[in-house]
Amino acid sequence: MKLALTAFTPLILLVAPVATMAGSSLLEQQCAECHSLNGPAPTTATAYRERKGPDLGYAGIKYRAEWLEQWLQKPTRNRPAGMFYGKHIKTGPKGDVVDEASLKPHPKLDAAAAKAATTALMALKEGAERIKTGDYKTGKISLSMGEMLFDKFRGCLACHQVEPGYGGVSGPEVYTIGKRLQADYLVSFMRNPKLWEPRTIMPARKLKDRDLQKFVHYFNALSAEDFQ
Ligand code: HEC
Ligand code: HEC
Repeated sequence: MKLALTAFTPLILLVAPVATMAGSSLLEQQCAECHSLNGPAPTTATAYRERKGPDLGYAGIKYRAEWLEQWLQKPTRNRPAGMFYGKHIKTGPKGDVVDEASLKPHPKLDAAAAKAATTALMALKEGAERIKTGDYKTGKISLSMGEMLFDKFRGCLACHQVEPGYGGVSGPEVYTIGKRLQADYLVSFMRNPKLWEPRTIMPARKLKDRDLQKFVHYFNALSAEDFQ
């Protein structure tokens, strides 16, 4: 047994860093022009507005690996009005609408590159101390109770869509969050959005822990629906 380990160890040590390195240089070459890979988050309103894509320096504690790998091969828009809505809204006959022509499709990766990029992204864990592992406790809420909380009581629907085409467009859609993001990150982000995004337009509502948990239950319930 001891012998076998010694024989195989160097191979394992060699393979892992090479895969991560290929992914890291891919990120530098193909992603860094639009995404910060090592923070800090924008601290001025101008930097926040001008940022080209979400920060990826904490991708490893934010995204779900399976989602990342698939999404990078078939990217769809998660923010209906792009990175900063102010740049992609035009006035139509019925009020403001998203100016689709101003939004470009996201670059796509093939399966091998998506795998390498995902491995490298999952290793980026800046700000991990802001997350408490196990902060989210598994639970359930009905869609109607969840929506009541999200819309009527807390006013979140003004900026976030809970199904395609329903809800505000300035924030990311929440009906894919259950598959896209890690639950403990969500609790930490909603508890104090400015800790992650000092200039965010999302208001700090001092939500109770009970409500934070219910929001994540709600996102999970939405993700179980099949919106296409
Ligand atoms: C030309 C600019 C540009 C380049 C290059 C680019 N991205 Fe993006 N990326 C964006 C924008 C803009 C968004 C926000 C799109 C949205 O969600 O609507 C985004 C979104 C993302 C998201 C999803 C964020 C979320 O929270 O939902 C991930 C993950 C991502 N990019 C990874 C990558 C990786 C990996 C690369 C390199 C292979 C890359 N991007 C290259 C502009 C870019
Ligand atoms: C004024 C608009 C606005 C309101 C109101 C708002 N948000 Fe947000 N929210 C945003 C924006 C914008 C982001 C993305 C972070 C950024 O770029 O600043 C965000 C991010 C999030 C995220 C992380 C999603 C992701 O894909 O990264 C969650 C979860 C969230 N909001 C939940 C809520 C909840 C719950 C409420 C109600 C208590 C709420 N939001 C109210 C604008 C808003």
